Amino acid sequence: MLNRAAVTRSVRTTCYSVNLLISMAKKTRRQFIEDSMFVTAAAVTASSAETASGHQSLSPNERLNVAVVGVRGRGNSHISAFAGRKDTHIRWICDADRDIGSKRVVETAKRQQGASPLFANDLREVLEDKSVDIVSIATPNHWHALAAIWSIQAGKDVYLEKPVSHNVSEGRRIVEAARKYGRIVQTGTQSRSNPGMQAAVDYLHANKLGKCRVARGLCYKRRKSIGAAGVFEPPKSVDYNYYLGPAPVQPVSRRQFHYDWHWQDAYGNGDLGNQGIHQMDLARWGLGINELSQNVFSYGGRFDYHDAGNTANTQVVVHDYGEQTLVFEVRGLETTEHRGAKVGVIYECENGYVVMASYSGGAAFDLDGKKIKSFKGTGDHFDNFLKAVRSRKTEDLNADILQGHLSSALCHLGNISLDLGGPLPVAEVQKQAARLGSNDNDSDTFSRTLQHLNNNNVNFEKYPCYLGRELKFDPKTELFVNDPQADQKLTRDYRAPFIVPKQGEI
Ligand SMILES: NC(=O)c1ccc[n+]([C@@H]2O[C@H](COP(=O)([O-])OP(=O)(O)OC[C@H]3O[C@@H](n4cnc5c(N)ncnc54)[C@H](O)[C@@H]3O)[C@@H](O)[C@H]2O)c1
Repeated sequence: MLNRAAVTRSVRTTCYSVNLLISMAKKTRRQFIEDSMFVTAAAVTASSAETASGHQSLSPNERLNVAVVGVRGRGNSHISAFAGRKDTHIRWICDADRDIGSKRVVETAKRQQGASPLFANDLREVLEDKSVDIVSIATPNHWHALAAIWSIQAGKDVYLEKPVSHNVSEGRRIVEAARKYGRIVQTGTQSRSNPGMQAAVDYLHANKLGKCRVARGLCYKRRKSIGAAGVFEPPKSVDYNYYLGPAPVQPVSRRQFHYDWHWQDAYGNGDLGNQGIHQMDLARWGLGINELSQNVFSYGGRFDYHDAGNTANTQVVVHDYGEQTLVFEVRGLETTEHRGAKVGVIYECENGYVVMASYSGGAAFDLDGKKIKSFKGTGDHFDNFLKAVRSRKTEDLNADILQGHLSSALCHLGNISLDLGGPLPVAEVQKQAARLGSNDNDSDTFSRTLQHLNNNNVNFEKYPCYLGRELKFDPKTELFVNDPQADQKLTRDYRAPFIVPKQGEI
């Protein structure tokens, strides 16, 4: 059914007003009445030429209909972004948790002058609605690729939260689907739309401090234990089978159902794929690299607590790009900052360094540590997406899905390396880390990480340090080199009907 919809919508032109009229002709009487009420209400409020945010005021018929999918945390910000504009209308709220969805429907109706969105528990119901132009996805990570691909196949443009995928293959499949069906797909790495960040990256790309050799992404964010593993009931308002979707069927083992899935690898990707993906993306962008690395290794562990989580809370990932190196450090225990940053990126160049310690900017320093330039300014990532939706040009996007795929995959590759490793005495990990991380002077990264763990009195007998496998990767095929065991981790076993297509199936 979804493919049939994709065929009919793939010929859609940029003339949304015509499309809306055509689709209104096909609507049920109830939908038509609802829309008419909405149009009347909107026409009254849309009297000024410019909205508060400076967008050109459009006639109601030119509004883009949006479905927001997964609305508890980040999805609520998606609602704010689309409901706060005059050129978009939230037509659907979709959430696997009926209580959360219903609450957001009421709130959204108030924001839309009484025009209530429809509610669906299941994305497939939303995709049947031909009047929907945009699907905005903020579900847990294990659902990202499937939700995006289904939406693309149904002819919708997509705003997709980071990481765009739960594994490497999923990200590439979304890129293929976006290109095949001619859809606009923005990744939710919003700092790419901040002028401060753009200016810093331009500065780096212009080699103002000479060639940039190392980008060091930092995700130093305290993460506490999520409580002991157990068998818990999902909330009664949740359709648990649908919530699990592409993940295996298993009981809930975490105390807090929502959000804490980040720390269970069936659904999330640890802090590397949570906060870390933002800085991973900035690190790669600043280095000017547009492919995956040929060498990756990682070390770390889940230190200081045994709980329902199984992702690392302390981790170093090194991507070796030959003349350039991308290092990533995750610290979930108490820590001090590193060179002025806790969550940020440090770019080490020939004649100085740049520190981006926030989403909106940072500063450049010479080799003596003297500040020579500042970068500041925030932007509107949703606005950038909507401009591209109207222009139909992927190149107008600040964070096209290809960029999202590459940066998400760099996180996944780090996790695969760690997964395939094993516990070793700390001295042995240190020796191997120094050997593998040649360009980065990784013995220093390791020493600082060890110092940090010692500051937290980590008992390595109880919480061992893991050395990941050194992996060789082919960025062209996006497969590992002669490592079938590692290749298996590029995807997962899906269960019908929640199947993300394999290579060649898009
Ligand atoms: N860009 C950012 O700055 C930013 C910030 C926070 C979170 N995020 C991303 O947003 C996503 C959501 O994070 P969160 O913290 O809001 O998680 P959350 O657990 O608080 O909320 C997820 C919601 O999705 C719903 N859901 C799950 N599967 C669904 C499905 N198939 N269809 C519809 N609804 C479904 C859940 O019921 C829940 O209400 C994550 O991928 C996260 O990485 C991005």
